[in-house]
Amino acid sequence: MAKQALSAELAALLATRRDGYGMPRDFYHNDALYPAEVAQIWNRGWLFAGFAVEIPKPGDYLTLTVDSTPVLVMRDDHHEVRAFHNVCRHRGTVLCRKDSGHARAVVCPYHAWTYSRQGDLIACHGMQEDVDKSALGLKPLHAEVCTGLIYISLAETPPAFAALRERFAAAARPQGFERARIAKVVDYDVESNWKLVWENNRECFHCTPCHPQYVKANFDIYEEEFASAAIKQKMAAAVARTQSKWAAQGIEITLQHGGLATFPDPERNLWFAADRTVMVEGFASESMNGERVSTLMGDYADSDVGVLRMRSMPNFWVHGSCDHAVAARLLPAGPRTTKVRGYWLVHEDAVEGRDYDLERMLPFWALTNEQDWEICKWQQKGVDSIGYEPGPLSTRKEYNVDAFIRWYLQQMRGDGVAAPQLRIA
Ligand code: FES
Ligand SMILES: [Fe+2]
Repeated sequence: MAKQALSAELAALLATRRDGYGMPRDFYHNDALYPAEVAQIWNRGWLFAGFAVEIPKPGDYLTLTVDSTPVLVMRDDHHEVRAFHNVCRHRGTVLCRKDSGHARAVVCPYHAWTYSRQGDLIACHGMQEDVDKSALGLKPLHAEVCTGLIYISLAETPPAFAALRERFAAAARPQGFERARIAKVVDYDVESNWKLVWENNRECFHCTPCHPQYVKANFDIYEEEFASAAIKQKMAAAVARTQSKWAAQGIEITLQHGGLATFPDPERNLWFAADRTVMVEGFASESMNGERVSTLMGDYADSDVGVLRMRSMPNFWVHGSCDHAVAARLLPAGPRTTKVRGYWLVHEDAVEGRDYDLERMLPFWALTNEQDWEICKWQQKGVDSIGYEPGPLSTRKEYNVDAFIRWYLQQMRGDGVAAPQLRIA
């Protein structure tokens, strides 16, 4: 999608955001702003679509819908992952209607036009006309696979992908996403604007009151300059313990202080990041009691690997423990609805009942997710009110909410630089 000029009205609306404050009320439900966000952000960037292990064989596919644009992601006859508009070239009906499946060929349910796994139109039986099949293949979309993650872009010319590929490949190598098994998928309809979901994700100010299980495992609530000497000492001890074991294997604690890594970074147009943090003493995994809940993933040879965290704007994050990983894929579905898919991944050889039990694995992140979606729902109701007025953001606790808003404004105004820089968080 080509960059579109914002209307004067929307440009004026964006200008109403006061530095250091949350976004004004209209940002969360204005009827004209939401489609502009879809055009400027969702249709232009790279979107996480799913995991390559979901479609291991030729003919396997998954689908997703970005606002009102259905997308088909399919493994072709040559094992390449391809993405297409999931729309028939005859009269436009949606082709593959399940979340995932397997197809020898893509046959339209309406009049049976048939497409190969490469997207070529191979049959349109019953048409008397001289149809130029070569001009009527499925419309291709950009697709990339990086360390087991599938990204797609609806843009004609998407931003450069190379920097994300380099950073994610290095950071995620020991986690082994390309050798993972999806243990569980949960779909959530979050009753909230997608920006509220990110604002919530980008601060841990709310973690103490809202996520009692999360704060036991992680140091996110302790910003470096404000942490007590005792907390700093605990973090330093955990860093020393983990680093000394794993430096040689490339498992590095890249965020050695508490708090959250700065992300996104609009000044550098940084839309992806990866870092690794230590866990609180006694926690080997992001589980309710800190114990491992499955066999080790990827190349990990020991539990003491902290937490791998990766994220990309506008729709992906993942936390990887030594034994499982939990990811989220966001898709906008209107100004007040965000569809979130939660994924729980384990080693490909892990067997349910023998190596892991969902009852032990799910609660930590299922609770965290549900707590967050409840927060988002009630925040949407609040910001919809005529009584809502943005309040000040904490520079200590909400620096990333501010960064997200500035990144958002930059994207909407189209003044970001084209090529993101590589940055080690
Ligand atoms: S709409 Fe697909 S074959 Fe007619
Ligand atoms: Fe949260």
